[in-house]
Amino acid sequence: MAILKAPRRLPRLLVFVAVTCIIFTYFLLDRIPQRHGKWRTRTLYVPSSFDWAKRRQTHPLFESDMTRLPEGPPHELPRIQHDFSLDTPSKAHNQTQRRRRDAVRSTAQKCWATYREYAWGYDELRPQTLSGLDTFSGWGATLVDSLDTLWIMGLRTEFQEAVRMVGTIDWDNSTGVVCSLFETNIRYLGGLLSAYDLSQEKTLIKKAVELGNMLYAAFDTPNHMPANAFHFERARRGLLVADSREQSASVGTLSLEFTRLSQITGDMKFYSVIDRIKSELERTQSGTKLPGMWPTFVDLRNGFLTPDSSFTLGAMADSAYEYLSKMYVLLGGLDPTYKKMHTKAMETVRNHLLFRPMLPDADTADILFPGTVLSNGGKIIDLLPEVQHLGCFTGGMFALGGKLFGIDEHVEIGEKLARGCAWAYEAFPTGVMPEVSEIMPCKTPNLKPCEWNETRWQEESEDAERFSKGIRAVRAPGYMLRPEAIESIFILYRITGKEDLLDVAWRMFESIQRATETKFANSAIADVQADGGYTTKIDSMESFWIAETLKYFYLIFSDPELISLDEYVFNTEAHPFKRPKPGGDDMPGGGEKPMHD
Ligand SMILES: *[C@@H]1O[C@H](CO)[C@@H](O)[C@H](O)[C@H]1NC(C)=O
Ligand SMILES: *[C@@H]1O[C@H](CO)[C@@H](O)[C@H](O)[C@H]1NC(C)=O
Ligand SMILES: *[C@@H]1O[C@H](CO)[C@@H](O)[C@H](O)[C@H]1NC(C)=O
Repeated sequence: MAILKAPRRLPRLLVFVAVTCIIFTYFLLDRIPQRHGKWRTRTLYVPSSFDWAKRRQTHPLFESDMTRLPEGPPHELPRIQHDFSLDTPSKAHNQTQRRRRDAVRSTAQKCWATYREYAWGYDELRPQTLSGLDTFSGWGATLVDSLDTLWIMGLRTEFQEAVRMVGTIDWDNSTGVVCSLFETNIRYLGGLLSAYDLSQEKTLIKKAVELGNMLYAAFDTPNHMPANAFHFERARRGLLVADSREQSASVGTLSLEFTRLSQITGDMKFYSVIDRIKSELERTQSGTKLPGMWPTFVDLRNGFLTPDSSFTLGAMADSAYEYLSKMYVLLGGLDPTYKKMHTKAMETVRNHLLFRPMLPDADTADILFPGTVLSNGGKIIDLLPEVQHLGCFTGGMFALGGKLFGIDEHVEIGEKLARGCAWAYEAFPTGVMPEVSEIMPCKTPNLKPCEWNETRWQEESEDAERFSKGIRAVRAPGYMLRPEAIESIFILYRITGKEDLLDVAWRMFESIQRATETKFANSAIADVQADGGYTTKIDSMESFWIAETLKYFYLIFSDPELISLDEYVFNTEAHPFKRPKPGGDDMPGGGEKPMHD
């Protein structure tokens, strides 16, 4: 019997072997680099389990309610970057840049490899226990947030592998019943849009559109103001309402991502809803207790403003201000409202929030900090000289706006703010500044310098024995691997071309490495005041470490034309979006073909 059957089996075996070979070759080919260094990818795309685009709106916005992107050719905006072609970099300079850049890249590679090995698909790596942690819905925050960094650093194999994983994300499979609209927007949507802008990988824009359609449901509220607490089930049923006490950053930090999504897809609904927020910001800007700025908390249900009397550029408000000038850029200068709002806000910041520290070496340390203001709406305006690491982005914001709108004083202020944070880094034993501290302010008007007063310092400082001269208190001593200080140093370098900023950046990088490096990655630390270089690691590496901090360090040590500020605009999670090209054909609504898939 066995013998009789053998001849019939042989062809089947051949077929089996042939099929196996074909499949094997197919997978193998997949990993072979093609010509021009491009990788052939079989893009894996699995749609999410719910299609939010098909959901019926409870409070529909009709075509007639829609605002379209401003029409017409984008304006030629003033050049932002220093003209580096005028410089003649020495061989030594080039070598130093390369060495530093490679060090940053190795750190990123190491952290990514560890994430891949121990936390693949999770939101974060726990760098000490070497496990995964979900903090932002479990869709893989680090995975998505790191995409553009991998691309920019030329880590293409890692990038392609990440893209395939991203292609399988299901936005309707979340670890929580609620997600934060703000965080989901800046990390996930921003990360996808930027990686798409750089790589043109179709999977990425498909996932971005899915996510955009989901987040659009946050605006399906009675007054079309967004609900930051995105409760999936309520959103699906159209039951969301905007909060009456919402952080101003949450509502003010959607514009860049939603605009870029409309620009790429040609679907105006995304832009339309954020343009309504702009109108509210514009309408209320001069009627607050500190005219020009918005209170830290806003009322999205009734009339926008709240009785809140605190005004800050730190936590809960920060990027609402950052996005004003950046929106002007992304819209190719076609909406003057953003310019008006930015300049008005920055005047108020300059006159009321900024302060100069009292320092023993006032002549050399020509620096500024942003504080927090309490205002009762009348004459009483109190400045708290509280310095947050989060607020260190202010330097870049002032300098960028100053270049864009031709306000030289703002570029100078930006530099003093950026150098302020650099000073604060060096004022602590680890060479890294803490989350929140207080610094002795000068009492002289108009940001003028003041004399050092030892008596006042001894009286006011909470620990004059221990702190560097000028530090009044430390309110939150940790360092969470945050990017804002290097972000501003990077922007100032690109704008001014001042070479000493490269050394400032390198000292920051070395200090951060010394204080946070672990065997397999980097970790947030409990206290930047640790003596002798020993720091307590707190087993956390948020997605912004690779997405932002390491990207800015990498870029400052790279060719200044890599992600030029004249070609890209960064969202608040350091994701660069392509700027429209002046002269015409890039401006959607004014000519670009809508993307259909
Ligand atoms: C340094 O690098 C720049 C730009 O990458 C290049 O144009 C220049 O020739 C280099 N200089 C030297 C001395 O190698
Ligand atoms: C949801 O995601 C988790 C973890 O990523 C996975 O284990 C689970 O199978 C998913 N559930 C569904 C219904 O897809
Ligand atoms: C220094 O500060 C002390 C305490 O605040 C104050 O009494 C004194 O007048 C100050 N000295 C000068 C020269 O301003």
